[in-house]
This record gives sequence, structure tokens and C-alpha cells, in this order.
Amino acid sequence: MVQTYIVTGASRGIGLEFVEQLTARGDIVFACARNPDSSKGLQALIDNEKIFGIQLDATCDQSIKAAAEEISSKASEGVDVLINNAGIGGTMGLNVENTSKEEYLKVFETNVTGVSEVLKAFLPILRKRGQDNVKKVLNMSSVLGSITEMESGDGEGFGSAYCVSKAGLNMLTKMFACQLAKENFIVYSSHPGWVKTELGGDGALTEKKDSIAGQLAKLDSLTVQDNGGFSDFNGKPISCYQ
Ligand SMILES: NC(=O)c1ccc[n+]([C@@H]2O[C@H](COP(=O)([O-])OP(=O)(O)OC[C@H]3O[C@@H](n4cnc5c(N)ncnc54)[C@H](OP(=O)(O)O)[C@@H]3O)[C@@H](O)[C@H]2O)c1
Repeated sequence: MVQTYIVTGASRGIGLEFVEQLTARGDIVFACARNPDSSKGLQALIDNEKIFGIQLDATCDQSIKAAAEEISSKASEGVDVLINNAGIGGTMGLNVENTSKEEYLKVFETNVTGVSEVLKAFLPILRKRGQDNVKKVLNMSSVLGSITEMESGDGEGFGSAYCVSKAGLNMLTKMFACQLAKENFIVYSSHPGWVKTELGGDGALTEKKDSIAGQLAKLDSLTVQDNGGFSDFNGKPISCYQ
């Protein structure tokens, strides 16, 4: 059955690959990007019938509000799935001793509060699907946000702010999951693997097509047991906790 998706950070990388694979299987997608017009990859997919380009900066209240209004008017019967993918890595290599307050706030503004603001603004659009339909929210996290998996303490090349932000995102996921369970939502965190994108770099081990195919298979097969959980792109559970 054709489903309707919102994907943030759809200009490139993992977000664009989601839009490509969803387009290929005939789904309807609101592809949100800071500058949809400047993404050649996105422009090649937008047809304004099933694939729509929507301007959205996850750190800008006005932009989020305008995006929610535009999607709401175009998707009068609501949206099934929100993929909160937009994220930044911050300054590479900073550890807990030399990460500044400004660095934490910058990364949090996109990776944590950006996700929270987008999710809150888009909830009414998801709720239009009604109590009988499952509404799904995928928050794009990272294994670097797992406290259990953190062994070296330096974020393995990524800065501390990134790791702390993704751990914060996992808590945000859990809290939204608890709050929305009674309304037939499934909210979960996903680790896409170490993926070849601008953020992941050329040395990454996972191709975008494999990461997204795996994550879509997981999205398609979610059950209530997945609410508030954290899994990798193969659907394997990841522990967040100590
Ligand atoms: N690649 C990996 O190995 C890996 C591993 C674990 C987790 N992740 C997560 O996966 C997600 C996507 O990463 P990626 O590898 O595809 O990175 P990427 O190639 O750097 O793409 C990041 C995307 O996020 C968008 N973005 C950044 N700030 C934004 C904002 N304020 N508002 C809206 N969009 C914004 C970018 O848009 P612009 O084009 O406008 O900059 C771009 O579309 C991130 O959340 C990342 O943390 C990636």
C-alpha cells in the first residue's frame, strides 16, 4: 500500500537516498531540505505529484512552521511516517576536555532540539491518520550515542558534542515514544551504519543503498515492541544504557 513520508535533510547523503528508494517503490514523499532548489539529486526526483520539495531548516522556527503548513495543506489526509534524518557532525576530533559550550549548543540545536521542534510541529499532520492507523517516527541517531558502546571516550574520531547529542536524541526518542504510545505511534532511533556520505567520509564501510534498504525493511516491519527502541540498519537492537 502506498504510504506518505516526510524526510528531513533530503538534499544529499542518507536523506536523499531515502527519497530515491521511496520514489522507486511508488510512495509519496515530502522531501524537506534547507535549499531544495540547490540539490540536483532532489530536483531530479521532484514531480509535485508524488514527490514534493519542501524548504525546511530544522534550527529555524519560522521555517518549521511554514513547512508544517505547506505539508498539511498538501497532505489533507495526513502522513504515515516522519524520518527525522537532518543532522550535523560538528567539529571532528574534539574530546570532552576541549569541547566548548558553543560547540555543544551548535550541535544540539540541530541534532536534539531541531528534531524535537520538527516532531512537535509535524505531530498534527501525523495525527490526521487517526487512532486506527500506526504512525511511525524514525529519529536518525548513531551508535556513537550509545552509552553502552562508548569505550574509548573520544567518540572514535567524532567530537564529544556529536556523541552527547545522539545520546540526548535517544532519550528524546524514548520520551516521545512513551508519550505517544496511547495514540498508536511507534517512535524509535535508528543507527544507519557507518555510511559513505559527506559526514561518514569515503572510508565508511556501508553503502547508502544497503543502509536505506535495511532501514526501510525495519520501518515496514515495526511492531509495538519497537516503540522507544534503538536498532541498527539491519534491525539489530542496540543498547543505549550502561
Ligand atoms: N554517515 C554516517 O556514517 C552516519 C552514521 C551515523 C549517523 N548518521 C546520521 O545520519 C544523518 C544523515 O547523515 P549523512 O551521513 O547523510 O550526512 P550528510 O551527508 O552530511 O547530510 C546531512 C543532511 O542533513 C541536512 N542538514 C544539516 N543541518 C540541517 C538543518 N539545520 N536543517 C535541515 N537540514 C539540515 C543537510 O542539509 P544541507 O545540504 O542543507 O547541508 C544534509 O541534507 C545524520 O543525522 C547523521 O548524524 C550518519
